[in-house]
Amino acid sequence: SLESYDDCWLRYEPADGERRESYRTRCENVYASVGSPELGAVRDELRRAMTGLLEREPHLWQHPPRSVEGFLAVGTPDEMEMIADSVSTDRVAALGDGGFRIRSVEWEGAECVVVTASTDRGLVYGTFHLLRRMANGHPIDDLDVTEEPANHERVIDHWDDPFRRSVERGYAGPSIFDWERLPDLRERYVDYARLLASVGINGVVLNNVNTKIPGRGSANEFVSGKAGWQLLTQDGLEKVAALASVFRRYGVRPYLSVNYAAPMLIDDYDTADPLDPDVEEWWARKAEEVYDAIPDFGGFLVKADSEGQNGPYDYDRTHAEGANVLARALEPHGGRVWWRAFVYADHDDRAVQAYETFEPLDGEFLDNVTLQVKNGPIDFQPREPVSTLFGAMDGTDLACELQITQEYTGQGVHTCYLVPQWKEVLDFDTHASGEGSPAKDVFSGSEGAGIAGVGVVGEDPTWTGNYLSQANLYGFGRLAWDPDLDTETVTDEWVRQTFGGDPAVIDTVSGILHDSLPATVDYETGGLGLIHMMYNGEARLENHYDPSPAEWPGYHGATEDGIGIDRTSGGSGYVGQYHEPVAETYDDPETCPEELLLFFHHLPWEYELADGTTVVQRLYDNCFSGVEVVRDLRERWQALAGRIDDRRYRHVAERLEEQVVQAERWRDTLVAFFYEHSEIPDEHGRVPLT
Ligand code: GCU
Repeated sequence: SLESYDDCWLRYEPADGERRESYRTRCENVYASVGSPELGAVRDELRRAMTGLLEREPHLWQHPPRSVEGFLAVGTPDEMEMIADSVSTDRVAALGDGGFRIRSVEWEGAECVVVTASTDRGLVYGTFHLLRRMANGHPIDDLDVTEEPANHERVIDHWDDPFRRSVERGYAGPSIFDWERLPDLRERYVDYARLLASVGINGVVLNNVNTKIPGRGSANEFVSGKAGWQLLTQDGLEKVAALASVFRRYGVRPYLSVNYAAPMLIDDYDTADPLDPDVEEWWARKAEEVYDAIPDFGGFLVKADSEGQNGPYDYDRTHAEGANVLARALEPHGGRVWWRAFVYADHDDRAVQAYETFEPLDGEFLDNVTLQVKNGPIDFQPREPVSTLFGAMDGTDLACELQITQEYTGQGVHTCYLVPQWKEVLDFDTHASGEGSPAKDVFSGSEGAGIAGVGVVGEDPTWTGNYLSQANLYGFGRLAWDPDLDTETVTDEWVRQTFGGDPAVIDTVSGILHDSLPATVDYETGGLGLIHMMYNGEARLENHYDPSPAEWPGYHGATEDGIGIDRTSGGSGYVGQYHEPVAETYDDPETCPEELLLFFHHLPWEYELADGTTVVQRLYDNCFSGVEVVRDLRERWQALAGRIDDRRYRHVAERLEEQVVQAERWRDTLVAFFYEHSEIPDEHGRVPLT
């Protein structure tokens, strides 16, 4: 259906013969409500999906069809009597926003499937859930499913720079959002909204958190010209309203990143002090304008006092004072402020800062403020410990920010499946209320909590730069909906919907995804918890893609004596921000998990690990084995030639070729660096490199 870009996991390939009859019986006739934008989307999706899955165009009815063997009914019990007859209406009414129920029932002799919910948004999710089951080849004659999203807010944060069509840390071509042409709409917006809704995403922040565009020099220099802060003007809001009309059909609410100095930038105020009554009034008026144009607007995302963006510190105000003035403006409209905790400056150890800044403010943020915290204390490194703020701010709604775009994990080229990393974060036991306090409970706690993912799509026909990176977008949505899903389930679903049911293909692709993250961690870091080994130069595309550990002595701590950063109680003290017994475990190199060892400890090169291997030898070994795994991934993929379509086969094969070359470059740079500082050769004679 989509000529110029891929269908991703919404391919709706014909069902297998065995299932096809049962699917046709129950889904060739569709009785669905009409009326709301969401129901329009449901009908469109069913028409498209059934045409693919059943290889027959479905008949759509506005009343229960008679004299048919069976049908699919989609609607709320209020609207459709047949549905009220088929499910417990009390149970449906009790479902939270977005929840749905699906049942196989017999109705007046017909074999039916009922998809129901108390809201139309729930019907969208229920419909996509049923279609996912069918695309996975599951039976639908015995369904009894009830689902509700675990996290209330499930948002994609686009780092797209409006008007320039560029995407900060985007590796899939220009932005899909064409702000110059908006309010003219593109079909691609619809297809993007379909992809998001199909995995349960319910919000999109349309523009970069950097609402002024950083220049190439210091963080405080900005490139002039149109930028994200302008979306709050009347002209900008008209464009946002147009996008909202598309997203609304799929239950996705729009948000904007705003600049803290907006009153100055937009209306020439001479201050943006949050305690200034004129500033307060400005935000209140602005919020009214926004909601006049976009009644279901989600709220504002703010990067304040971070990397040169404006903020309340400009006026000696706290982050809470800063966030609350925006929150008061949005409150009458049901909007929310997402305030980022990504701050660092003037500290020897950047890891301590978010906690030191925000933990003392717990309880001071208004109810409609969500503090958005990156998964780790630094910045989306291939491996980091989990942020200490999770489990430290009982009186504040928290959101976990994950990065779907692969800024530090091979960008649009490398295969690096991030779902296992995210599972680790979500399942991490903070011990905030004793054993069994997983981080995921913090985000699923209340209405204002949730999960945000830094967006990954662009104009590229693959959407994500690499066909296999689509799995990260898919997996993000699925985990945001249900963090208890296990990695294998998510992977299997994605592979089947994306590449079909050939067991050899499923096995191979799942295996490749599964082994990809540990390999990346090994060749990009040596696997013992080191961070910031990457290049940070001028040329944007190589930025954070190539290795360059020499740039970052303060981050990895390599000296001739040893390597790692001392964040113990005797060092920067970061470890003390964790609850016991986590703090104690990390504090001692004997008990600290090996994969985080050098994040918490500065250790001699010849420090012996549990199995007697030295630190430097383990770093060498991991760098070499990471490359071996990537070579193996390449070969496993090559075995798929002829089993999947040529276009996707070649695309991924080419990227795995480059990944091998690039992984070797990382390995060689890192081992040479370790050798240069330690002067200890590799036991296996590979280092020094000859
Ligand atoms: C990283 C990233 C920046 C981004 C920043 C942020 O530092 O490299 O491009 O702006 O994170 O999350 O704000």
